[in-house]
Amino acid sequence: MSTATAKQPSWLSKAVFYQIYPQSFCDSNGDGIGDLPGIISKLDYLQSLGVNALWLNPVFVSPFGDAGYDVVDFCKVAPRYGTNADLARLFKAAHKRGMKVVLDLVAGHTSDQHPWFKDACNNPKSPYSNYFIFTGQEEQRSCYYYQAAVVKGRRGGYYKPNFLAFQPCLNYGYMNPDPAKPWQLPTDHPDCLAVRGMLRDVMKFWLDLGCDGFRVDMAASLIKNDPEAIGLRCLWQGFRAWLDRDYPEAVLVSEWCNPINAIDSGYHIDFMIHFSDSAYRPLVGPGYALNGKARRPHVFFERAGEGDITEFLRIYQKHYEPTKGRGYIALPTGNHDFYRNSHGRDASELRVLYAMLLTMPGVPFIYYGDEIGMRNLTGITEKEGSMWRAPCRTPMQWDGAKPNLGFSTGKSKALYLPVDPAPDAPTVAAQERDPDSLLNFTRKLLALRAKHSALGNDGAFCPLYAEGGRYPFVYQRSDAKGSFAIAVNPGEAEVTIARPQLKNAKRLLGTAVVKGENLTVPGVGFGIFRLAE
Ligand code: GLC
Ligand code: CA
Repeated sequence: MSTATAKQPSWLSKAVFYQIYPQSFCDSNGDGIGDLPGIISKLDYLQSLGVNALWLNPVFVSPFGDAGYDVVDFCKVAPRYGTNADLARLFKAAHKRGMKVVLDLVAGHTSDQHPWFKDACNNPKSPYSNYFIFTGQEEQRSCYYYQAAVVKGRRGGYYKPNFLAFQPCLNYGYMNPDPAKPWQLPTDHPDCLAVRGMLRDVMKFWLDLGCDGFRVDMAASLIKNDPEAIGLRCLWQGFRAWLDRDYPEAVLVSEWCNPINAIDSGYHIDFMIHFSDSAYRPLVGPGYALNGKARRPHVFFERAGEGDITEFLRIYQKHYEPTKGRGYIALPTGNHDFYRNSHGRDASELRVLYAMLLTMPGVPFIYYGDEIGMRNLTGITEKEGSMWRAPCRTPMQWDGAKPNLGFSTGKSKALYLPVDPAPDAPTVAAQERDPDSLLNFTRKLLALRAKHSALGNDGAFCPLYAEGGRYPFVYQRSDAKGSFAIAVNPGEAEVTIARPQLKNAKRLLGTAVVKGENLTVPGVGFGIFRLAE
């Protein structure tokens, strides 16, 4: 099936997402953990920001070994977040404001506490035996981490985990199964098809309650031994065809970092973040560390000015060109798995970064707190399998209320993670009062994007100045209604370049200046221009 002619949800061309880490967003009942009523209470704020869609990290029943990515009941909200009725209320309240809500679909695995897995481990005749992958020892290896995955139960032997040892893979089958390895079932094995059916039922359950689609966790992990994504294409295209028919307004967003494969597979949006074929990495860094003050290798968004935008463009355009018009690439401001982009960057540097991220084609995603420049709290202790990720998962900073900056009325000790203790920790309330704050800047960028469709999700993208090892980066966005140029200079040194297209350009935002055909961008500066007809 080709998705070239497939319809897409009508709201996608104007979609701007905000990612909510539910446990850290707003705690309505003082138990120290964010919850669904808390999210509902902040919808006015979210709307004022200019976003119109939300993605919630998993909110389902879980032992929280991996912060909820280890699910025990796919169709039930974890009590700490509220109830299914609260989630339905959130859908309704969001829809009333013209906003969408997307849930996290942990498609590739369950928790080892899931009743199916427990039954499969303890009962060799379990009807769920083939829902998981009980392997020989040599095949425990997971997608990302090697961890011993020894069955604790009567069955004995080993199983295949997807990420951490307590996240056993759901079995969607293997491409070209090896007959010497009897656990490698073909993708059309009835039990693998039953797992597929189960996933569809889960999606249907939430869609019928009012949800607007899914961010699919580890979307590429489902079929094993499938480097060319042949089985994966078939599987996800099947789901997409079903959605197009029964839920044409529902969106599928993948955590894949391979837009060509993801969009060919029927996804509407794929994240391009720090994974293997990542255009994001040469732009902002490795995602979880800095080697000393400078980033090694250098990245483009760095004061040193020694990054190379062509490394970003090489990968970005490889994926953008063949997918444009058929699906979207998302270059998020951050997410719950990596260091915040504020790490090692001040607010002025963040502005230049957002000036680019929020004027690129595709669907923008703002990670909660990035709009106020929340810090990456390095040094805090791990929580719920966070490993290196706790620093970017701390509570949202709403106002100056002591001691929890408006996140919770509970005792600070009870908080999911500590709030930023800095006396000048950024808060929404303080930034609301300051017309020049990062919050109001983010609003301005989103308003500009909403006003000029060329700057939006579908406008064409074309580099105007992108030279290896040089600054600035200048690109054009255009559609039938107009043409715009965006110039970003994350480096400290002022730069001047010349381009005939810039003649008579009118500046809409930023401090860069055009004179004749010359563009001058101050150090750590940017400009967004409307181009003359
Ligand atoms: C994804 C999630 C991450 C989680 C992992 C396992 O990468 O974003 O938070 O730990 O999958 O589900
Ligand atoms: Ca709570």
